[in-house]
Amino acid sequence: MSDALFTQPQLADRHRAQRDPVLQLEKISVSFDGFRALTDLSLQIGVGELRCVIGPNGAGKTTLMDVITGKTRPDAGRVIYDQDSDLTRLSPVEIARAGIGRKFQKPTVFEALTVFENLEIALKADKSVWASLRARLSSEQRDRIDEVLKLLRLGGERQRRAGLLSHGQKQFLEIGMLLVQEPHLLLLDEPAAGMTDAETAYTAELFRSLAGKHSLMVVEHDMGFVETIADHVTVLHQGQVLAEGSLREVQASEQVIDVYLGR
Ligand SMILES: Nc1ncnc2c1ncn2[C@@H]1O[C@H](COP(=O)(O)OP(=O)(O)OP(=O)(O)O)[C@@H](O)[C@H]1O
Ligand SMILES: [Mg+2]
Repeated sequence: MSDALFTQPQLADRHRAQRDPVLQLEKISVSFDGFRALTDLSLQIGVGELRCVIGPNGAGKTTLMDVITGKTRPDAGRVIYDQDSDLTRLSPVEIARAGIGRKFQKPTVFEALTVFENLEIALKADKSVWASLRARLSSEQRDRIDEVLKLLRLGGERQRRAGLLSHGQKQFLEIGMLLVQEPHLLLLDEPAAGMTDAETAYTAELFRSLAGKHSLMVVEHDMGFVETIADHVTVLHQGQVLAEGSLREVQASEQVIDVYLGR
């Protein structure tokens, strides 16, 4: 059917459904000493999309993020970012500079520094820790940090040592350290792990508000959380895509029920 046959709203809907990909993984394979962690995995994420990736322990979810961020080199396949560069040819630093931010499974903040200093270092990520603490912030940078502190409900903790924060607050701080860098694509590995119910609910709200402006890939086991945020879900199993679609669709898949959700 040609585009001329679509009325304007239909055309807009169709465009939304097929938004330009920010990330295209093409036939990625990774093995560790003969063990295949990812096999021929292809996956696309649209600009502004909030994609959830779920699947049993060992399915390859973290490995997928390792490949995107250059931590692990695939044996085969390409990772096309912004329809242009192949990330498998770039270093982790170049990939971060290209606008991809990652939050690891365990929070990794500088415990001895204050909340504000952690954000300051993240903002000036091109400098060493001590050089960045000595360099003065512009008023614009200061405003950005203030904005992120407010967004993550850490305004009251700005001078507190990060090591003294609750686990959930550390998770928020690490998300903040990504946000000050204004990434295009955010990769978040189990962001709600260890959070209280209220913190989890706020994280869901936050991610929904970030989608659109940013593209997000979220790995999470908490199905209640996935249900509140997901547009589109990919289920990984043994290094391959087992199912993809709306949460309703993948929840109805017999295979997904067998290997992950249970009966
Ligand atoms: N560096 C490595 N060396 C050897 N094996 C590895 C390495 N990294 C991952 N693996 C293996 O690859 C498989 C996929 O691991 P991965 O961490 O990606 O799973 P995951 O889906 O993130 O699981 P979880 O839900 O438990 O976090 C696992 O069997 C794991 O043991
Ligand atoms: Mg993992």
